[in-house]
Amino acid sequence: MCGIVGYCGPKSAKSVLYGGLKRLEYRGYDSAGISVLDADGKVQTVKSVGTVTNLDAGTLPDDASTGIGHTRWATHGGVTDLNAHPHTSGAITLVHNGIIENFETLAETYNIERISQTDTEVLAGLIDHHFASTGSLKDAVLAALAEVQGTYGIVVMSPRQPGTLVAARKGSPLVVGVGRDEHIIASDPQAIVSHTDNIIFLDDGEVAVIDALNIDVYNLANQPQTKMVEEVEQAAEVNMAGFGSFLEKEIHEQPSSLTEVMRGRISGDGRITLGGPDLTADQIAGLDNILIIGCGTAYYAGMYAKYELEDLLGIPVQVEHASEFRYRHAAYSPSTSLAIFMSQSGETADTLAALEEAKRRGVPTMGIVNTVGSTLARSVSNGGIYLHAGTEVSVASTKAYSSMVVALLMFGGFLADRRGQRLGDIRVLAEDLVNLPHEIELCTKLSDPIKAIAAEIAGHSNWFVLGRGNLFPIALEGALKVTEVSYIHAQAFPTGEMKHGPISLIDEGHISVVLLPEDKLLYDKSISGVQEIRAREGKVLTISSRPALEHSDWHITVPMVGHRVSGLVMNCCLQLLALHVAEKLGRDTDRPRNLAKSVTVE
Ligand code: F6R
Repeated sequence: MCGIVGYCGPKSAKSVLYGGLKRLEYRGYDSAGISVLDADGKVQTVKSVGTVTNLDAGTLPDDASTGIGHTRWATHGGVTDLNAHPHTSGAITLVHNGIIENFETLAETYNIERISQTDTEVLAGLIDHHFASTGSLKDAVLAALAEVQGTYGIVVMSPRQPGTLVAARKGSPLVVGVGRDEHIIASDPQAIVSHTDNIIFLDDGEVAVIDALNIDVYNLANQPQTKMVEEVEQAAEVNMAGFGSFLEKEIHEQPSSLTEVMRGRISGDGRITLGGPDLTADQIAGLDNILIIGCGTAYYAGMYAKYELEDLLGIPVQVEHASEFRYRHAAYSPSTSLAIFMSQSGETADTLAALEEAKRRGVPTMGIVNTVGSTLARSVSNGGIYLHAGTEVSVASTKAYSSMVVALLMFGGFLADRRGQRLGDIRVLAEDLVNLPHEIELCTKLSDPIKAIAAEIAGHSNWFVLGRGNLFPIALEGALKVTEVSYIHAQAFPTGEMKHGPISLIDEGHISVVLLPEDKLLYDKSISGVQEIRAREGKVLTISSRPALEHSDWHITVPMVGHRVSGLVMNCCLQLLALHVAEKLGRDTDRPRNLAKSVTVE
């Protein structure tokens, strides 16, 4: 979603900002802009719809050493040069992530003139209004934020206080990189790591006053705050490593990302040890309910785990959309429940809001997160599990999904062990998990045959993805992947639900991808479902560990693997199918239209 970079120091601000915005490109955006303060104390701005390379940065002065940059994902107002950030109002220039909910009231109250349709320009006007009376950038920001409803990560500059940036956050991440005689502000450490490993994480409700040499942090009541400089691991340079897209690369990276999530956590004797969850023996023994909360693919990872964890642990597992959970009064007993929050980015606004709701209700909270140091990872009360999947660049999540499922299954095995359940079951799970990277590697080798099938079915614009048991959540995730990268309307149903409505859509142009379970009884029932579709001239692609069927139009044979992980091999095939269909249709597989990597607004 929107990205922010700010710079003050001895270097050319425009090149630091441009480089930072390029590193944020993977998050998804529709326009970009940079403002710098030139030697005459004037603000010079370039903005453009489209990619960062569209910016006419060459026209900005090389010697300007203070500036701010932004990549925008439109919320208020269309995708136009005028609506792109930074926005200037009077003596204030600002970039903003988030949503100012009461911007119309503020614009009316203060008679703020606007040339754009954005809420951000109103915030700039409001700060400018207070700047006129306070004469201090920090005090003006504090006064304005006291009147604002909504969420924000902002960086503000003014020619009247050259060399200073004021940053503030509520619900939208901001970090400050501390370099030699320079500070770099960003919404994502990714924009900073090529300059410094030393980072200050701003918390919600904090305002930072930053120049090249100093950083002072205050709360919204203007009280000074003490902050630690933390060393973050340099993110490896991300490139496509010879693949045609990041999506393809990340699908093929799963054997190694799955190895990483299990590294040091499963011992040779099949015991699962996790150092991250911070739960007492009493909490583990008394647990009678698990809530798993996330959005999109992270939610589907929880859905898959529900099937396995309920079976393994014998306690209910509730899976909740974060966007629903945050507003409803879910029924659970806080003292005997555990809420697990799933997120690749660790910055998804709905997931963070749901976490706050769970903490308010007093339930212990854990995170399963890929991005180290993200807001979610830092906000949970009872630790969690890092995925160590490496940077996921493609907007469509693939390797983070499979690592989330494995992390949840490992957590199930860990809990089962601590609750004194049968070691035999836990060892079978551990063995299935340990074999998985190799089995996923075998699936990635099916890429070419899947590509051939994709070429034949890409022209069909309505699909079902059907599964039973633990393959139903895989169908949901597969349908999401196909939809988001190829723009085909793909919908998932439990195979057994077809006769209760969806079958009415079947005709000769309709594709059904049917995931066939290993279990003999459910396999036979699923085959009946396939025949019912075929009897109505629907086209069927089956995926199964058994060989090709005479009754399907296309078939993919996957390796036979342990039951608890069987969905993940099918999932890998569905990821490849989504990739190749999208390629065939000429889609931008890494940055599908209208989507963003990290959804930091509600
Ligand atoms: C789909 C996808 C999204 C994300 C969702 C949550 O491929 O990537 O559905 O899974 O936006 O994002 P995180 O995991 O960052 O909280």
